[in-house]
Amino acid sequence: MPTPSMEDYIEQIYLLISNKGYARVSDIAEALEVHPSSVTKMVQKLDRESYLHYERYRGLILTSKGKKIGKRLVERHDLLERFLKIIGVEDENIYEDVEGIEHHLSWNSIDRIGDLVQYFEECPDRMADLQLVQEKNEEETANQ
Ligand code: CO
Repeated sequence: MPTPSMEDYIEQIYLLISNKGYARVSDIAEALEVHPSSVTKMVQKLDRESYLHYERYRGLILTSKGKKIGKRLVERHDLLERFLKIIGVEDENIYEDVEGIEHHLSWNSIDRIGDLVQYFEECPDRMADLQLVQEKNEEETANQ
């Protein structure tokens, strides 16, 4: 299994390639707010572990192993964003919070969160019920 930091890179590379068709070291550095030399180092490591092929002047491509895990990581990120949205977390906190937790949950927890998200998304009444609880609690906090 890739380490949390490797996961961040694979996730970002997968996103860049899906959105732009390619992922350059400079794009990855910008997206992850790290120095390009750190990207080069990590990309070489990911190449050694067969997540991607990297050639200095030709750029990089994900292997089928890299694509498979990349897709899973991006889906996990999306699921956790939907989860935080459903439980009423404010938009401005969602991205950072997902980045903070996504590498620290087992796939078992991710799958069960998936069930919960499905439970709410399948039925707007459940969503409305939860919102009532949230509003009531927010009011109580505000009145304390
Ligand atoms: Co993420």
